[in-house]
Amino acid sequence: MAPLAKLVMACLILSSTLVQISEAGSIVTYWGQYTNKTEGTLEEACQSGLYSYINVAYLNQFGYSQDLVLNLSGHYSSGNYTLLGEEIKACQKMGFKVLLSLGGPYGNYSLASSWDAEAVSGQLWSLYLDANSPSSALGGGAAFDGIDFHIERGSPLYYYDLAKKLKEHGAGERNKTIYLSAAPRCLYPDEYLAKAINESVFDFVWVRFYGGSVACEYNAVTGLDNLIISWNAWSLLLKKPAKLFLGVTASQSISGYIPPGVLKGEVIPQINETSRFEGVMVWNRYYDLLTHYSSSIVNDVNLIKLKKPLRYFV
Ligand SMILES: *[C@@H]1O[C@H](CO)[C@@H](O)[C@H](O)[C@H]1NC(C)=O
Ligand SMILES: *[C@@H]1O[C@H](CO)[C@@H](O)[C@H](O)[C@H]1NC(C)=O
Ligand SMILES: *[C@@H]1O[C@H](CO)[C@@H](O)[C@H](O)[C@H]1NC(C)=O
Ligand SMILES: *[C@@H]1O[C@H](CO)[C@@H](O)[C@H](O)[C@H]1NC(C)=O
Ligand SMILES: *[C@@H]1O[C@H](CO)[C@@H](O)[C@H](O)[C@H]1NC(C)=O
Ligand SMILES: *[C@@H]1O[C@H](CO)[C@@H](O)[C@H](O)[C@H]1NC(C)=O
Ligand SMILES: *[C@@H]1O[C@H](CO)[C@@H](O)[C@H](O)[C@H]1NC(C)=O
Repeated sequence: MAPLAKLVMACLILSSTLVQISEAGSIVTYWGQYTNKTEGTLEEACQSGLYSYINVAYLNQFGYSQDLVLNLSGHYSSGNYTLLGEEIKACQKMGFKVLLSLGGPYGNYSLASSWDAEAVSGQLWSLYLDANSPSSALGGGAAFDGIDFHIERGSPLYYYDLAKKLKEHGAGERNKTIYLSAAPRCLYPDEYLAKAINESVFDFVWVRFYGGSVACEYNAVTGLDNLIISWNAWSLLLKKPAKLFLGVTASQSISGYIPPGVLKGEVIPQINETSRFEGVMVWNRYYDLLTHYSSSIVNDVNLIKLKKPLRYFV
């Protein structure tokens, strides 16, 4: 091959790699609520290259001195998360972050007191966040990058204490940055996480504009007004440096569903006016596989992102 052709070739490969990697910068998803057969493995979700952050859902038993229990809908043989650990490491090698999501619609979780929150933070740290912990549930030197708060039931108290203690664990014992995210419903302030959000403990806030919060969701009849009003409230009131994401569902059967054409043609241009938009959270990997929602919006989302420095170019 002539040198010039080689150079052109190399540039093409380089630029397509950069484009592919940068695409991941702005989409986040949830994985773990469907079986292997229907949503594939965590590693496959990472290999798709679509998501920069994946929340593994859910750890839905904690608090009141209970053992921590993960419910990943039968993805791994119960109680043995060695394979999960391997997949987390594989995802991290690809440059993606994997968070453990607390909460969800089922299970038995709540915090009894500030002391209980501290105890749960200790359990989370030694089982899931500290790669060198002798009691790691993941083994093999694997650890999550952080914790997502997807709280939908129980008492709203003490989540701020839990988040604060988690940050302290990371900073104290191993000098590890623990990423914290929140998935509040779209009506501001969130009934479970108001204080923690107000106190700026979260690195990311992916607001759920779906799932039955009719006062702030998109609706084909009433249109976008409620969503935009609510987005602007979050944009204005969420303290920096938390990064704000628009949370949408990829399933037409869930309330608040925004067709990709509406998201690209109407929502993104309007929320583009605010500087707080960092990307889109797409609920969830299973629906995304069925509808290809993320693939159909990623370019438009990145048009906005490209105005900002991407971590991959640093
Ligand atoms: C899911 O896949 C993993 C390997 O990828 C396997 O170990 C596990 O048993 C599978 N679970 C189910 C329910 O098929
Ligand atoms: C957990 O699973 C891994 C591989 O899937 C296996 O090598 C290991 O022996 C299992 N550990 C226990 C305690 O069953
Ligand atoms: C585990 O998660 C599945 C899927 O979300 C749910 O159907 C089931 O009720 C949950 N079970 C428990 C004990 O949390
Ligand atoms: C939830 O956990 C608490 C504390 O262990 C226990 O008292 C309660 O019975 C549990 N509730 C359910 C529905 O399992
Ligand atoms: C902790 O890590 C940061 C970067 O990750 C580094 O700048 C800092 O010096 C470290 N602190 C200690 C006490 O090791
Ligand atoms: C939010 O923070 C402000 C101070 O920054 C405080 O005045 C207010 O009471 C807080 N609200 C809640 C719900 O914690
Ligand atoms: C967002 O706004 C910028 C100008 O501030 C514009 O260049 C860009 O095309 C807009 N993106 C979208 C998707 O509308």
